[in-house]
Amino acid sequence: MKNKFYITTPIYYVNDKPHLGHAYTTLVADVLVRYFKLKGEKVFFLTGTDEHGAKIEKAAKEAKKSLREFCDEKAEQFKKAWANLNISYDKFIRTSDKEHIEAVQNVLKVLFNKGLIYKGTYEGLYCPGCEQCKTKEDLIDGRCQEHKLEPELMKEESYLFKLSLFQDILKEKIESDELEIIPKERKKEVLSFLKKPLQDISISRQKVKWGVPLPFDQKLTLYVWIDAFLNYLTGLGWKGDVKEAPDFWPADLHLMSKDILRVHATIWPALLLALGLPLPKRIFVHGYFTIDGQKMSKTLGNVIWPDEIVEKFGADGARYLLLSNMSFGKDGDISWQKLNEKYNADLANGLGNLLSRTIKLNETLSVQPENQESISDLCKLIEELKFKEALDQIWQKINWANKHIEEKQLWILTKDNPQEAQKILKELLSLILQVAECLLPFIPETAQKIKEQIRENNSQILFPRVK
Ligand code: MSP
Repeated sequence: MKNKFYITTPIYYVNDKPHLGHAYTTLVADVLVRYFKLKGEKVFFLTGTDEHGAKIEKAAKEAKKSLREFCDEKAEQFKKAWANLNISYDKFIRTSDKEHIEAVQNVLKVLFNKGLIYKGTYEGLYCPGCEQCKTKEDLIDGRCQEHKLEPELMKEESYLFKLSLFQDILKEKIESDELEIIPKERKKEVLSFLKKPLQDISISRQKVKWGVPLPFDQKLTLYVWIDAFLNYLTGLGWKGDVKEAPDFWPADLHLMSKDILRVHATIWPALLLALGLPLPKRIFVHGYFTIDGQKMSKTLGNVIWPDEIVEKFGADGARYLLLSNMSFGKDGDISWQKLNEKYNADLANGLGNLLSRTIKLNETLSVQPENQESISDLCKLIEELKFKEALDQIWQKINWANKHIEEKQLWILTKDNPQEAQKILKELLSLILQVAECLLPFIPETAQKIKEQIRENNSQILFPRVK
């Protein structure tokens, strides 16, 4: 398929409701999707929930709910959070969907028949938070750095996937950017990990009941990550027939944060190679949100939930605040105070004020703007996923325009020199229209409102100030 763009987010674990980190990744996807749709490309946007495994079993038990009821409830919370942020995906996949499970079982049969899965004994240090085995080098003071947990020794009779076979080919595909990893520092990290020999991985679980049963040994369930990866294919309606990849495959972009890059750059492409399917084109790894300099965590009690941000600042307010907070590939720190200040400065005073004062000053003169297209430099930044940088560039224009009104004392000119005032108003309105075009993927409702208000020469408050 030509001019297509297939973008995915990780599928999120349903052990808890969606938090800001999940919201950020999904929002990044939504902005790109809106951008490529405006460019006229065929886009498919997949997101969803990862519902199997020990972690979810435990959470459902603690909530005293059946697994089905618990997962349904959580999946709904994710859908609602995305609707509140005005995120529009094409498909929301759940790994507990019957179609997904059947396709996964078909894949397992193929791998088994190809001799890429074998029975053996597996031993490793397993972090239940990551649902991954850790190497000694991953641990600091004996603990996993992601979850600050001491990994458990896992030793069981197991089916293993021959991951080790794919070491050299993975290295080559990543080095040559056939499977591109950005930012480059992340690619380096993966390549340095690939210098050590890759171990075969256990793909079966004896003790976990909530999972996909192995078709060749029904009393065992599948390791949750294998189940999860295949969502990127089954989300396109694929039934597990390796002779036929779905239309939108390969993924043009997998979005994620650094926590899950390694598995995405090893196990996932190895599975695809094993199945004879093309590799994803690109993996983009964004940073982490921290709150007041600390990792967001329920134990620390410092979590900010996406719904709270939407409630306070509106969907577009929340979208702007999240997207303008994180530089390409870096971590971003937020706090309620910073969010309030940024909202008031950039949205209420910056953009909102510019629009309302310009339209008011134009009340008697009724100047029409010139039609504007979005800026090409900006398109480049968006395509490079430099959203904060793109927004900074747009806000430079907004700030310039507000300053220009002050310097020219436009409110005096409209009376004393209407001809000069008309010239400046045309320039300003054209600039605002251009800003609105550029903002369409980021804050779509506001961008439309700006265009309407200019057309009708009638101003309404875009962003009420907050305390
Ligand atoms: N279920 C697996 C992914 C399977 S994909 C085949 C998983 N789920 S998760 O719920 O833990 O989500 C991890 C992802 O959520 C990260 O890769 C990132 O996209 C997002 N974030 C979670 N916490 C984050 C921050 N604090 N900051 C930014 N994003 C982070 O891993």
